[in-house]
Amino acid sequence: MPISLPRLQDWTFTVDFEGIAWAVIDRKGESMNSLGRKPTEELGEIVKAVEAAEAGELKGLVLMSAKDSSFIAGADIREFEGFDTEEKIKDVVKQTLDLLDRIERLPVPVVAAIHGYCLGGGLELALACDWRIADREEGTRLGFPEVKLGIFPGLNGTVRAIQAAGPVDAMTAMLTGKMLRPGAAKAMGLIDQLVPTRHNLRWAARKAVLQKRRSKGAPWWKKLMQKQPVRGLLAKQMRAKTAAKVREEHYPAPFRLIDLFERYGDDPARMRAAETEMFTPLMASETSRNLRRVFQLSEMLKDAAPKDGFKPRKVHVIGAGTMGADIAAWCVVCGMQASLQDLDAEQIKKALGRAKGLFKKRLRGKTAIDSAVARLIADPDGKHIKHADVIIEAIVEKLDVKQKLFADLEAKAKPGAVLATNTSSLMIEDIAKPLSDPGRLVGLHFFNPVAQLPLVEVVHGKRTRKEEVGKACAFVTAINKLPLIVKSCPGFLVNRVLAPYMMEAVRLYQEGQPREKIDQAALKFGMPMGPMELMDMVGLDICNKVGEELDLAPKTDGKADNILATLVKQGKLGKKTGEGFYVWVDGKPKRDEANYDDTELERLGRELIKPLLDEAERAVADKIVEDADHADAGVIFGTGFAPFRGGPLNYRRTQDASSGKKAA
Ligand code: NAI
Repeated sequence: MPISLPRLQDWTFTVDFEGIAWAVIDRKGESMNSLGRKPTEELGEIVKAVEAAEAGELKGLVLMSAKDSSFIAGADIREFEGFDTEEKIKDVVKQTLDLLDRIERLPVPVVAAIHGYCLGGGLELALACDWRIADREEGTRLGFPEVKLGIFPGLNGTVRAIQAAGPVDAMTAMLTGKMLRPGAAKAMGLIDQLVPTRHNLRWAARKAVLQKRRSKGAPWWKKLMQKQPVRGLLAKQMRAKTAAKVREEHYPAPFRLIDLFERYGDDPARMRAAETEMFTPLMASETSRNLRRVFQLSEMLKDAAPKDGFKPRKVHVIGAGTMGADIAAWCVVCGMQASLQDLDAEQIKKALGRAKGLFKKRLRGKTAIDSAVARLIADPDGKHIKHADVIIEAIVEKLDVKQKLFADLEAKAKPGAVLATNTSSLMIEDIAKPLSDPGRLVGLHFFNPVAQLPLVEVVHGKRTRKEEVGKACAFVTAINKLPLIVKSCPGFLVNRVLAPYMMEAVRLYQEGQPREKIDQAALKFGMPMGPMELMDMVGLDICNKVGEELDLAPKTDGKADNILATLVKQGKLGKKTGEGFYVWVDGKPKRDEANYDDTELERLGRELIKPLLDEAERAVADKIVEDADHADAGVIFGTGFAPFRGGPLNYRRTQDASSGKKAA
């Protein structure tokens, strides 16, 4: 009897002349495959058809994808919002768990043939198959990013990953959320076989089915580590390593995963059941909701770039100092060609040396590094200006010098090239004044250090054309950063909200609060670094200037300077001079030992953060950014504001809601 083929939307299902069933996922209307309700239901139909086949009728089943960039990139995070109670979560999880168990029990070999992103739920599905093949292409990546969303794998991926790769490798992959290259995934045991390219996948999958390949799982010596007392020791180490990176009170998911492993690591059946029990409250928590929000905010920022049209390849950067050098090097890391200009040839030379360090860190293999070195061009005379798609100015912060430079650039740039300034404090409309077409100038405000900070503010003056803003956003996404469109104003968004927070820290310090206590209060709130340490790193001269420009410097009785201005006068500028608020030794601040009461730290943290929240609200009211979500996104990605709180305005909203509930 021929196999009945269900009518499907997100999958195609065919059986070839050899009796091999091919299930190919290609979600309709989506650029990436994700495991949402619809494709999961359809996979259920496919499994039903295979289960119903008569003995000998089918040789096996292959799962693969028709998309260019993904096998399955995870669960469909958009659908998570509907799962607002633990009951609903358990219900959905149970249905999917049952489906994966049925796949595992199918009487014929099931092979996952993987190209592109195979993450989260996608990898959990692959782990339920008998054999996993991945290609070695650059875009193929495997991993468990769940901890970044405040959860851990909840489709029995914890159990299956440990069975496949052993506890150390599997737990490391799940605790760090790192994306693994296919070679690394194979070395661990998450993958059974590698092929050179996606074109080899079908043939390899066919052979694996015909040869009835089954993954052997982790070797005996890895399995030994699941037993006590080794397991307990491992768990202790994992806890210490995780605690060095995140606080349990802010990010509980990795700690619950370690608990799960420690309690049930050598008992797969109990671990399966306990996984769901421990996963569900995490998934329903506010932390996870906020971290999912952060992910969605990053997607929202990427959407600012028009989908088609501007495809920049050549960048010209003027000013090879702190910012210009790093911007040019970063563009090259992202595959572009960058030419670098400076009045001072020595600066260009230093920049090229520093860039090589970045290439070695970020790129793999001699060929990739050599090619990057060749794409970064020293151009003291600006010969490449006329070829550039994007021209970025990062010279001294002086209006007249910048104006003169842009008047000259306008004449030399090719039509359609983006003209951008990296100014941090000047108004775009002022710099654009001498241009015959002032609508062309846009701000591209990068943050220091460029390679590490994900946000770039795309600043529009009163006359900047929308089209130029769109092109600038396309450029920012092409270099793998997140563009935030902001109106030209002092401090733009990020420095505008950061400055009052820093000045509040100065005020508290001036009033006698210890610097260590202020920093600890910020860390307890969830900031990545305390404000006293941060100001020392930025430079107290710069902080003082910003404070004065925005008229935020703490007031004194009028006779004396505030403490920040005093330190600057004394030449204590922070890390760069060896002393600021702290004395710096070997690149680290020397702190006094002190322990403070938790409740007091929480109170101080709220006091410290309040001016930042107020300013973020004012920025939205002043229409500096489109709306509250954009303000939250800018502050999270520009300052590292406690991601688990979902952004300053989301935090204030949820605080207000919970205090309203309490009052009621
Ligand atoms: P920097 O002083 O490190 O480098 C400036 C470079 O520009 C120097 O190498 C100098 O020789 C060169 N230069 C000056 N005038 C020039 C001209 N007419 N033509 C060609 N080269 C010229 O300065 P930095 O810190 O890199 O700042 C550059 C711009 O970026 C400024 O507008 C600053 O406000 C902005 N910015 C700085 C940030 C930071 O953290 N340093 C962060 C964000 C923006």
